[in-house]
Amino acid sequence: MSSRAGGQVSPFVFQPFSRRQKQAIFWWRPGSGHEHARMMLADGAIRSGKTVAMIFSFLQWSLTNFRNQDFIVAGVTSGAIKRNVLAPMFRMLETFRIPWEYRRSESKILIGDNTYHVFGADKDNAQDKLQGMTAAGAYADEVALFPRSFVDQMIGRCSVAGSRIFMNCNPNGAYHYIKTDFIDRAEEIGLYHLHFTMDDNLTLSPEIRESYARSFAGVFYRQYILGEWVSAEGAVYPMWDDRDNTYDAAAGEGPLREGEEPRERGLRRFCAVDYGTVNPCVFLDVWDDGRTFWIAKEYYWDSAARRRQKTDAEYAEDLTAFLEGDRDAMLIVDPSAASFKAELRNRGFRVQDAVNEVREGIATTAVLIGNRQIRAERSRCPCLLREMHGYLWDEKARLHGEEKPLKERDHAMDALRYLCHTRTSRFRRRV
Ligand SMILES: Nc1ncnc2c1ncn2[C@@H]1O[C@H](COP(=O)(O)OP(=O)(O)OP(=O)(O)O)[C@@H](O)[C@H]1O
Ligand SMILES: [Mg+2]
Repeated sequence: MSSRAGGQVSPFVFQPFSRRQKQAIFWWRPGSGHEHARMMLADGAIRSGKTVAMIFSFLQWSLTNFRNQDFIVAGVTSGAIKRNVLAPMFRMLETFRIPWEYRRSESKILIGDNTYHVFGADKDNAQDKLQGMTAAGAYADEVALFPRSFVDQMIGRCSVAGSRIFMNCNPNGAYHYIKTDFIDRAEEIGLYHLHFTMDDNLTLSPEIRESYARSFAGVFYRQYILGEWVSAEGAVYPMWDDRDNTYDAAAGEGPLREGEEPRERGLRRFCAVDYGTVNPCVFLDVWDDGRTFWIAKEYYWDSAARRRQKTDAEYAEDLTAFLEGDRDAMLIVDPSAASFKAELRNRGFRVQDAVNEVREGIATTAVLIGNRQIRAERSRCPCLLREMHGYLWDEKARLHGEEKPLKERDHAMDALRYLCHTRTSRFRRRV
Protein backbone atom coordinates (compact mmCIF):
# COMPACT_ATOMS: atom_id res chain seq x y z
CA MET A 1 0.00 0.00 0.00
CA SER A 2 1.28 3.43 -0.75
CA SER A 3 0.01 6.71 0.49
CA ARG A 4 0.94 10.16 -0.32
CA ALA A 5 -2.33 11.20 1.18
CA GLY A 6 -2.44 14.01 -1.37
CA GLY A 7 -4.41 16.92 -0.04
CA GLN A 8 -4.83 15.31 3.38
CA VAL A 9 -1.53 16.43 4.81
CA SER A 10 -1.54 20.08 5.72
CA PRO A 11 1.72 21.96 5.22
CA PHE A 12 3.87 22.59 8.29
CA VAL A 13 3.73 26.24 9.22
CA PHE A 14 7.21 27.21 10.30
CA GLN A 15 7.69 29.87 12.91
CA PRO A 16 10.99 31.62 13.54
CA PHE A 17 13.69 29.20 14.67
CA SER A 18 15.56 29.85 17.89
CA ARG A 19 19.34 30.20 17.90
CA ARG A 20 19.72 26.65 19.19
CA GLN A 21 17.39 25.28 16.52
CA LYS A 22 19.48 27.07 13.89
CA GLN A 23 22.58 25.37 15.23
CA ALA A 24 20.82 22.01 14.83
CA ILE A 25 19.80 22.96 11.31
CA PHE A 26 23.12 24.30 10.01
CA TRP A 27 25.76 22.18 11.77
CA TRP A 28 26.58 20.06 8.69
CA ARG A 29 27.06 23.00 6.36
CA PRO A 30 30.57 23.99 5.38
CA GLY A 31 31.69 26.90 7.54
CA SER A 32 29.46 26.09 10.52
CA GLY A 33 32.52 25.11 12.53
CA HIS A 34 31.03 21.68 13.23
CA GLU A 35 30.85 20.25 9.74
CA HIS A 36 33.58 17.75 10.54
CA ALA A 37 31.51 16.00 13.18
CA ARG A 38 30.01 12.79 11.88
CA MET A 39 27.29 12.64 14.50
CA MET A 40 25.04 15.18 16.11
CA LEU A 41 23.00 14.73 19.27
CA ALA A 42 20.42 17.15 20.68
CA ASP A 43 19.30 16.43 24.22
CA GLY A 44 17.19 18.34 26.69
CA ALA A 45 13.73 19.20 27.92
CA ILE A 46 10.53 17.92 26.39
CA ARG A 47 8.90 20.14 23.79
CA SER A 48 12.03 22.22 23.40
CA GLY A 49 11.99 22.12 19.59
CA LYS A 50 14.56 19.36 19.00
CA THR A 51 12.53 17.12 16.70
CA VAL A 52 11.20 19.90 14.49
CA ALA A 53 14.66 21.38 13.94
CA MET A 54 16.31 18.02 13.38
CA ILE A 55 13.83 16.59 10.91
CA PHE A 56 14.20 19.78 8.93
CA SER A 57 17.99 19.53 9.16
CA PHE A 58 18.09 15.83 8.25
CA LEU A 59 15.82 16.26 5.23
CA GLN A 60 17.80 19.22 3.92
CA TRP A 61 21.12 17.52 4.45
CA SER A 62 20.11 14.21 2.86
CA LEU A 63 18.30 15.75 -0.10
CA THR A 64 21.05 18.28 -0.81
CA ASN A 65 23.94 15.84 -0.63
CA PHE A 66 22.67 12.49 -1.92
CA ARG A 67 20.72 10.85 -4.69
CA ASN A 68 19.55 7.25 -4.84
CA GLN A 69 20.72 6.48 -1.32
CA ASP A 70 19.17 4.68 1.62
CA PHE A 71 18.62 6.29 5.02
CA ILE A 72 17.52 5.07 8.43
CA VAL A 73 14.69 6.76 10.30
CA ALA A 74 14.29 5.23 13.75
CA GLY A 75 11.99 5.80 16.71
CA VAL A 76 10.97 3.82 19.76
CA THR A 77 7.64 2.35 18.69
CA SER A 78 5.68 2.58 15.47
CA GLY A 79 3.11 4.80 17.23
CA ALA A 80 5.77 7.19 18.48
CA ILE A 81 7.41 7.37 15.04
CA LYS A 82 4.14 8.12 13.33
CA ARG A 83 3.15 10.80 15.81
CA ASN A 84 6.48 12.47 16.47
CA VAL A 85 8.48 11.96 13.30
CA LEU A 86 6.47 11.02 10.21
CA ALA A 87 3.59 13.44 10.81
CA PRO A 88 5.80 16.56 10.99
CA MET A 89 8.11 15.19 8.26
CA PHE A 90 5.27 14.74 5.75
CA ARG A 91 3.93 18.18 6.60
CA MET A 92 7.34 19.76 6.01
CA LEU A 93 7.62 17.97 2.67
CA GLU A 94 4.25 19.44 1.74
CA THR A 95 5.48 22.89 2.73
CA PHE A 96 8.48 22.58 0.42
CA ARG A 97 6.48 20.77 -2.28
CA ILE A 98 8.97 17.94 -2.34
CA PRO A 99 7.46 14.78 -3.84
CA TRP A 100 7.15 11.92 -1.39
CA GLU A 101 5.45 8.57 -1.09
CA TYR A 102 4.94 6.56 2.05
CA ARG A 103 4.91 2.80 1.46
CA ARG A 104 3.53 1.78 4.80
CA SER A 105 3.60 -1.99 4.25
CA GLU A 106 7.28 -1.79 3.29
CA SER A 107 8.06 0.68 6.10
CA LYS A 108 9.69 3.06 3.72
CA ILE A 109 9.31 6.56 2.39
CA LEU A 110 10.46 7.64 -1.03
CA ILE A 111 11.54 11.28 -0.96
CA GLY A 112 13.01 12.84 -4.07
CA ASP A 113 15.41 10.14 -5.29
CA ASN A 114 16.22 8.75 -1.84
CA THR A 115 14.66 5.98 0.23
CA TYR A 116 14.10 6.34 3.98
CA HIS A 117 13.59 3.10 5.88
CA VAL A 118 11.53 3.35 9.05
CA PHE A 119 12.50 1.26 12.09
CA GLY A 120 11.10 0.76 15.57
CA ALA A 121 13.88 0.23 18.10
CA ASP A 122 11.93 -0.94 21.12
CA LYS A 123 12.98 -4.58 21.28
CA ASP A 124 16.30 -6.12 22.19
CA ASN A 125 16.57 -7.84 18.81
CA ALA A 126 15.49 -4.75 16.85
CA GLN A 127 19.00 -4.34 15.45
CA ASP A 128 18.57 -7.56 13.42
CA LYS A 129 16.38 -5.62 11.01
CA LEU A 130 19.29 -3.32 10.19
CA GLN A 131 21.68 -6.10 9.38
CA GLY A 132 23.10 -6.09 5.87
CA MET A 133 21.91 -2.58 5.12
CA THR A 134 24.15 0.13 3.73
CA ALA A 135 22.96 3.61 4.61
CA ALA A 136 24.13 7.15 3.92
CA GLY A 137 22.69 8.49 7.16
CA ALA A 138 20.35 8.02 10.06
CA TYR A 139 17.86 10.00 12.07
CA ALA A 140 17.11 8.61 15.55
CA ASP A 141 14.30 10.15 17.59
CA GLU A 142 14.23 9.53 21.39
CA VAL A 143 17.47 7.62 21.11
CA ALA A 144 17.96 7.23 24.89
CA LEU A 145 15.06 4.78 24.84
CA PHE A 146 16.74 2.55 22.24
CA PRO A 147 18.68 -0.57 23.20
CA ARG A 148 22.36 0.12 22.80
CA SER A 149 22.69 -2.76 20.33
CA PHE A 150 20.39 -0.90 17.94
CA VAL A 151 22.36 2.35 18.17
CA ASP A 152 25.67 0.56 17.56
CA GLN A 153 24.26 -1.32 14.59
CA MET A 154 22.66 1.86 13.20
CA ILE A 155 25.97 3.72 13.34
CA GLY A 156 27.76 0.73 11.81
CA ARG A 157 25.30 0.61 8.90
CA CYS A 158 26.07 4.22 7.89
CA SER A 159 29.08 3.39 5.76
CA VAL A 160 28.50 5.49 2.63
CA ALA A 161 31.13 8.24 2.27
CA GLY A 162 29.93 11.46 3.88
CA SER A 163 27.33 9.70 6.00
CA ARG A 164 26.05 11.41 9.14
CA ILE A 165 23.96 10.50 12.14
CA PHE A 166 21.33 12.76 13.66
CA MET A 167 20.04 11.85 17.14
CA ASN A 168 17.89 13.43 19.80
CA CYS A 169 16.54 12.48 23.21
CA ASN A 170 15.36 13.57 26.63
CA PRO A 171 17.86 12.99 29.41
CA ASN A 172 17.82 9.73 31.34
CA GLY A 173 19.93 8.42 34.23
CA ALA A 174 23.43 9.76 34.91
CA TYR A 175 24.97 6.40 33.96
CA HIS A 176 23.02 5.92 30.76
CA TYR A 177 25.24 4.93 27.82
CA ILE A 178 24.16 7.97 25.79
CA LYS A 179 25.55 10.16 28.58
CA THR A 180 28.70 8.24 29.43
CA ASP A 181 29.71 6.94 25.99
CA PHE A 182 28.43 9.66 23.68
CA ILE A 183 27.97 13.03 25.39
CA ASP A 184 30.91 12.72 27.79
CA ARG A 185 33.17 11.54 24.96
CA ALA A 186 31.77 13.85 22.31
CA GLU A 187 35.05 15.27 21.05
CA GLU A 188 36.82 11.93 20.95
CA ILE A 189 34.06 10.23 18.90
CA GLY A 190 33.27 13.15 16.58
CA LEU A 191 29.92 14.07 18.09
CA TYR A 192 28.45 17.56 18.03
CA HIS A 193 26.34 17.91 21.17
CA LEU A 194 23.60 20.52 21.58
CA HIS A 195 21.60 21.00 24.74
CA PHE A 196 18.02 22.31 24.47
CA THR A 197 15.85 23.99 27.09
CA MET A 198 12.24 25.11 26.73
CA ASP A 199 13.57 28.61 26.00
CA ASP A 200 14.81 27.17 22.70
CA ASN A 201 11.25 26.65 21.49
CA LEU A 202 9.94 30.13 20.70
CA THR A 203 6.41 28.83 20.08
CA LEU A 204 5.69 27.78 23.68
CA SER A 205 3.41 30.06 25.68
CA PRO A 206 4.01 30.50 29.42
CA GLU A 207 0.74 28.66 30.10
CA ILE A 208 1.77 25.63 28.06
CA ARG A 209 5.18 25.57 29.74
CA GLU A 210 3.46 25.71 33.09
CA SER A 211 1.19 22.79 32.22
CA TYR A 212 4.17 20.69 31.03
CA ALA A 213 5.99 21.48 34.27
CA ARG A 214 2.99 20.28 36.27
CA SER A 215 3.01 17.01 34.32
CA PHE A 216 6.16 15.70 36.00
CA ALA A 217 7.40 15.21 39.55
CA GLY A 218 10.55 14.02 41.28
CA VAL A 219 13.34 12.68 39.09
CA PHE A 220 11.15 12.94 35.99
CA TYR A 221 10.81 16.71 36.54
CA ARG A 222 14.57 17.03 36.61
CA GLN A 223 15.02 14.93 33.47
CA TYR A 224 12.09 16.05 31.31
CA ILE A 225 11.62 19.66 32.40
CA LEU A 226 15.05 20.75 33.62
CA GLY A 227 16.78 18.51 31.08
CA GLU A 228 19.33 17.01 33.52
CA TRP A 229 20.97 13.60 33.23
CA VAL A 230 20.25 12.50 36.79
CA SER A 231 19.63 9.07 38.19
CA ALA A 232 16.59 7.90 40.01
CA GLU A 233 17.83 6.91 43.47
CA GLY A 234 16.25 5.75 46.68
CA ALA A 235 12.46 5.74 46.96
CA VAL A 236 10.49 5.51 43.72
CA TYR A 237 7.78 7.74 45.22
CA PRO A 238 9.57 10.11 47.60
CA MET A 239 6.61 12.50 47.34
CA TRP A 240 4.32 10.05 49.18
CA ASP A 241 3.12 11.51 52.48
CA ASP A 242 1.56 9.22 55.07
CA ARG A 243 -0.93 11.84 56.13
CA ASP A 244 -1.75 13.70 52.93
CA ASN A 245 -1.96 10.55 50.80
CA THR A 246 -4.25 8.65 53.16
CA TYR A 247 -7.67 9.14 54.74
CA ASP A 248 -9.59 7.77 57.69
CA ALA A 249 -13.00 6.40 56.73
CA ALA A 250 -13.96 5.84 60.38
CA ALA A 251 -13.50 9.56 61.01
CA GLY A 252 -15.89 10.36 58.17
CA GLU A 253 -13.17 11.17 55.62
CA GLY A 254 -13.23 9.95 52.05
CA PRO A 255 -15.79 9.97 49.26
CA LEU A 256 -18.33 7.49 50.61
CA ARG A 257 -21.22 8.62 52.78
CA GLU A 258 -23.34 6.36 54.93
CA GLY A 259 -26.67 5.58 53.27
CA GLU A 260 -25.81 7.37 50.00
CA GLU A 261 -25.54 5.81 46.56
CA PRO A 262 -21.97 6.69 45.46
CA ARG A 263 -22.75 6.70 41.75
CA GLU A 264 -25.56 9.19 42.22
CA ARG A 265 -22.88 11.50 43.54
CA GLY A 266 -20.84 11.03 40.38
CA LEU A 267 -18.28 8.60 41.77
CA ARG A 268 -16.87 5.92 39.50
CA ARG A 269 -15.53 2.64 40.74
CA PHE A 270 -12.39 0.91 39.48
CA CYS A 271 -10.64 -2.19 40.63
CA ALA A 272 -6.95 -2.46 39.75
CA VAL A 273 -5.64 -6.00 39.52
CA ASP A 274 -2.09 -7.29 39.61
CA TYR A 275 -2.46 -10.97 38.94
CA GLY A 276 -0.18 -13.63 40.39
CA THR A 277 -0.34 -17.34 41.05
CA VAL A 278 3.15 -18.02 42.40
CA ASN A 279 3.57 -14.32 43.18
CA PRO A 280 1.06 -12.40 45.27
CA CYS A 281 -2.22 -11.29 43.71
CA VAL A 282 -3.56 -7.82 44.52
CA PHE A 283 -6.88 -6.04 44.00
CA LEU A 284 -7.39 -2.37 44.85
CA ASP A 285 -10.94 -1.06 45.31
CA VAL A 286 -10.94 2.53 44.02
CA TRP A 287 -13.53 5.29 43.97
CA ASP A 288 -12.84 8.13 41.57
CA ASP A 289 -14.46 11.53 42.13
CA GLY A 290 -12.90 12.98 38.98
CA ARG A 291 -9.97 14.50 40.84
CA THR A 292 -8.81 11.92 43.35
CA PHE A 293 -8.51 8.15 43.33
CA TRP A 294 -9.73 7.03 46.77
CA ILE A 295 -8.41 3.55 47.49
CA ALA A 296 -11.01 2.18 49.88
CA LYS A 297 -9.51 -1.24 50.51
CA GLU A 298 -7.12 -3.88 49.22
CA TYR A 299 -7.08 -7.62 48.68
CA TYR A 300 -3.71 -9.34 48.93
CA TRP A 301 -3.18 -13.08 48.49
CA ASP A 302 0.40 -14.26 48.92
CA SER A 303 0.37 -17.91 47.88
CA ALA A 304 3.94 -18.52 49.03
CA ALA A 305 3.32 -17.17 52.53
CA ARG A 306 -0.05 -18.93 52.79
CA ARG A 307 1.32 -22.10 51.21
CA ARG A 308 -1.62 -22.39 48.89
CA GLN A 309 -2.13 -21.32 45.29
CA LYS A 310 -5.55 -20.23 44.13
CA THR A 311 -7.16 -21.02 40.80
CA ASP A 312 -8.61 -18.35 38.50
CA ALA A 313 -12.09 -19.42 39.61
CA GLU A 314 -11.18 -18.96 43.28
CA TYR A 315 -9.69 -15.54 42.61
CA ALA A 316 -12.82 -14.57 40.67
CA GLU A 317 -14.94 -15.64 43.67
CA ASP A 318 -12.74 -13.57 45.96
CA LEU A 319 -12.99 -10.57 43.65
CA THR A 320 -16.78 -10.86 43.52
CA ALA A 321 -16.94 -10.83 47.31
CA PHE A 322 -14.34 -8.03 47.49
CA LEU A 323 -16.56 -5.80 45.30
CA GLU A 324 -19.74 -6.90 47.11
CA GLY A 325 -21.02 -8.39 43.85
CA ASP A 326 -20.79 -5.03 42.01
CA ARG A 327 -20.53 -5.71 38.27
CA ASP A 328 -20.39 -2.05 37.26
CA ALA A 329 -16.89 -1.42 38.50
CA MET A 330 -14.31 -1.27 35.69
CA LEU A 331 -11.56 -3.80 36.33
CA ILE A 332 -8.12 -2.67 35.19
CA VAL A 333 -6.15 -5.82 34.79
CA ASP A 334 -2.54 -6.78 34.26
CA PRO A 335 -2.51 -7.21 30.44
CA SER A 336 -0.62 -10.51 30.60
CA ALA A 337 -3.26 -12.23 32.77
CA ALA A 338 -5.14 -13.69 29.78
CA SER A 339 -6.83 -16.62 31.52
CA PHE A 340 -7.99 -14.55 34.48
CA LYS A 341 -9.37 -11.84 32.22
CA ALA A 342 -11.38 -14.46 30.32
CA GLU A 343 -12.69 -15.87 33.62
CA LEU A 344 -13.77 -12.39 34.75
CA ARG A 345 -15.47 -11.56 31.46
CA ASN A 346 -17.37 -14.87 31.62
CA ARG A 347 -18.69 -13.83 34.98
CA GLY A 348 -20.03 -10.55 33.62
CA PHE A 349 -17.30 -8.20 34.78
CA ARG A 350 -16.14 -5.22 32.72
CA VAL A 351 -12.44 -5.59 32.05
CA GLN A 352 -9.92 -3.10 30.66
CA ASP A 353 -6.34 -4.00 29.79
CA ALA A 354 -3.90 -1.99 31.89
CA VAL A 355 -1.33 0.10 30.02
CA ASN A 356 1.90 -1.52 31.11
CA GLU A 357 4.64 1.06 30.47
CA VAL A 358 6.80 0.97 33.58
CA ARG A 359 8.74 4.21 33.30
CA GLU A 360 5.90 6.32 31.93
CA GLY A 361 3.50 4.72 34.38
CA ILE A 362 5.70 5.57 37.34
CA ALA A 363 6.00 9.14 36.05
CA THR A 364 2.20 9.42 35.91
CA THR A 365 1.72 7.87 39.35
CA ALA A 366 4.35 10.20 40.87
CA VAL A 367 2.49 13.28 39.68
CA LEU A 368 -0.83 12.05 41.05
CA ILE A 369 0.78 11.18 44.39
CA GLY A 370 2.49 14.59 44.58
CA ASN A 371 -0.83 16.34 43.82
CA ARG A 372 -2.51 14.25 46.54
CA GLN A 373 -4.80 12.82 43.87
CA ILE A 374 -4.22 9.38 45.34
CA ARG A 375 -5.39 8.65 48.85
CA ALA A 376 -5.52 5.26 50.52
CA GLU A 377 -7.74 4.31 53.46
CA ARG A 378 -5.38 4.31 56.40
CA SER A 379 -6.26 0.98 58.01
CA ARG A 380 -7.59 -1.01 55.06
CA CYS A 381 -4.56 -0.87 52.76
CA PRO A 382 -1.71 -2.20 54.92
CA CYS A 383 0.14 -3.99 52.11
CA LEU A 384 -0.06 -0.99 49.78
CA LEU A 385 1.33 1.27 52.51
CA ARG A 386 4.09 -1.18 53.38
CA GLU A 387 5.11 -1.59 49.74
CA MET A 388 5.04 2.18 49.21
CA HIS A 389 7.80 2.64 51.79
CA GLY A 390 9.89 -0.25 50.54
CA TYR A 391 9.55 0.55 46.83
CA LEU A 392 13.06 1.53 45.70
CA TRP A 393 14.96 2.10 42.49
CA ASP A 394 17.28 -0.75 41.61
CA GLU A 395 20.77 0.42 42.58
CA LYS A 396 22.62 -2.20 40.51
CA ALA A 397 20.61 -1.52 37.38
CA ARG A 398 21.26 2.20 37.87
CA LEU A 399 25.01 1.70 37.71
CA HIS A 400 24.46 -0.10 34.40
CA GLY A 401 22.59 2.94 33.16
CA GLU A 402 19.17 1.39 33.43
CA GLU A 403 16.35 2.87 35.50
CA LYS A 404 13.90 0.43 36.98
CA PRO A 405 12.44 -0.32 40.38
CA LEU A 406 13.58 -3.32 42.39
CA LYS A 407 11.32 -6.23 41.59
CA GLU A 408 10.52 -6.97 45.20
CA ARG A 409 7.23 -6.57 46.99
CA ASP A 410 5.94 -4.47 44.13
CA HIS A 411 2.52 -6.03 43.53
CA ALA A 412 0.31 -3.33 45.03
CA MET A 413 2.70 -0.84 43.38
CA ASP A 414 2.06 -2.43 39.98
CA ALA A 415 -1.71 -2.40 40.54
CA LEU A 416 -1.55 1.28 41.54
CA ARG A 417 0.52 2.12 38.46
CA TYR A 418 -1.93 0.28 36.18
CA LEU A 419 -4.77 2.32 37.64
CA CYS A 420 -3.05 5.70 37.37
CA HIS A 421 -1.46 5.27 33.98
CA THR A 422 -4.45 3.64 32.30
CA ARG A 423 -6.86 6.31 33.50
CA THR A 424 -4.69 9.39 32.93
CA SER A 425 -3.70 10.99 29.61
CA ARG A 426 -0.17 11.88 28.54
CA PHE A 427 -0.40 15.35 30.00
CA ARG A 428 -1.94 14.11 33.21
CA ARG A 429 -5.50 14.81 32.33
CA ARG A 430 -7.72 12.22 33.91
CA VAL A 431 -9.76 10.14 31.47
N1 LIG B 1 10.28 26.57 14.40
C1 LIG B 1 9.07 26.07 14.70
N2 LIG B 1 8.01 26.30 13.92
C2 LIG B 1 6.81 25.82 14.21
N3 LIG B 1 6.54 25.05 15.28
C3 LIG B 1 7.55 24.76 16.10
C4 LIG B 1 8.87 25.23 15.86
N4 LIG B 1 9.67 24.78 16.84
C5 LIG B 1 8.90 24.06 17.66
N5 LIG B 1 7.62 24.04 17.23
C6 LIG B 1 6.45 23.43 17.91
O1 LIG B 1 6.82 22.98 19.20
C7 LIG B 1 6.44 21.64 19.40
C8 LIG B 1 7.54 20.93 20.17
O2 LIG B 1 8.69 20.83 19.37
P1 LIG B 1 9.45 19.45 19.16
O3 LIG B 1 8.47 18.35 18.92
O4 LIG B 1 10.49 19.67 18.13
O5 LIG B 1 10.08 19.31 20.60
P2 LIG B 1 11.03 18.16 21.19
O6 LIG B 1 12.15 18.88 21.83
O7 LIG B 1 11.34 17.17 20.14
O8 LIG B 1 10.07 17.56 22.30
P3 LIG B 1 10.06 16.06 22.94
O9 LIG B 1 11.29 15.96 23.79
O10 LIG B 1 8.81 16.12 23.76
O11 LIG B 1 10.02 15.10 21.80
C9 LIG B 1 6.23 21.06 18.02
O12 LIG B 1 5.19 20.14 18.01
C10 LIG B 1 5.88 22.26 17.19
O13 LIG B 1 4.49 22.41 17.20
MG1 LIG C 1 10.93 15.10 20.04
